[in-house]
Amino acid sequence: MNSPIIAPSILSADFANLQRDVEMINRSEADWFHVDIMDGVFVPNISFGFPVQKAIQKHATKPLDVHLMIVQPERYIKEFKEAGAAILSVHIEASTHLNRTLQAIKAEGMKAGVAINPHTPVSLLADIIQDADLVCMMSVNPGFGGQQFIEHTYQKCAELKEMIVKRNSRCLIEIDGGVNQITAPKLLTAGADVLVVGNYVFSSSHPLETIQSLKKLFSHTHQA
Ligand code: DX5
Ligand code: ZN
Repeated sequence: MNSPIIAPSILSADFANLQRDVEMINRSEADWFHVDIMDGVFVPNISFGFPVQKAIQKHATKPLDVHLMIVQPERYIKEFKEAGAAILSVHIEASTHLNRTLQAIKAEGMKAGVAINPHTPVSLLADIIQDADLVCMMSVNPGFGGQQFIEHTYQKCAELKEMIVKRNSRCLIEIDGGVNQITAPKLLTAGADVLVVGNYVFSSSHPLETIQSLKKLFSHTHQA
């Protein structure tokens, strides 16, 4: 049994005090920074781009886990590497040649992730799971922080875990959206390894303690 990997989502940070919030995560027990990039086309929102990611990287002492919610993500792989990404996830719904895209991400020295929307069946990952280092499973419709968790995610997470075990893969399962003290333990039981937390951490009056309480939960599965 291991502690889950905790990845606070910068989308919920105070952008006018970004350095302060990045340094808070540095001091916390969190493991990664989750960085959400939205283009206003793949999702109905625009977040931020390279200059802001570079500013985060400048202060961050933990790996940047970058989640691309953009069309044709293969156009910008090198740029995200240069802006400090350690893990780069692209949506299965946005990448026509997903195998090629994952190989290109790895060729830049990053871990390669596949993100899937709530309506996308786990079975569509069958022929890509062996090439992915991480699956970012959306438990809300991507685009915004602070949304309500979609309950069907527990079942999808368990299904994905079964696929990973069956194929003897070391791929990590990351859950993104609506993670809190109620959903987190059930997600870990269903096989999750990484928990993205936005609103739950940044709206907390004691974010360090909130992160610590998630870190104290146990995952039965991941081998990171
Ligand atoms: C949603 C983003 C998430 C989001 C999670 O499109 O991918 O990473 O910031 O935020 P919470 O934890 O508030 O649902
Ligand atoms: Zn995300």
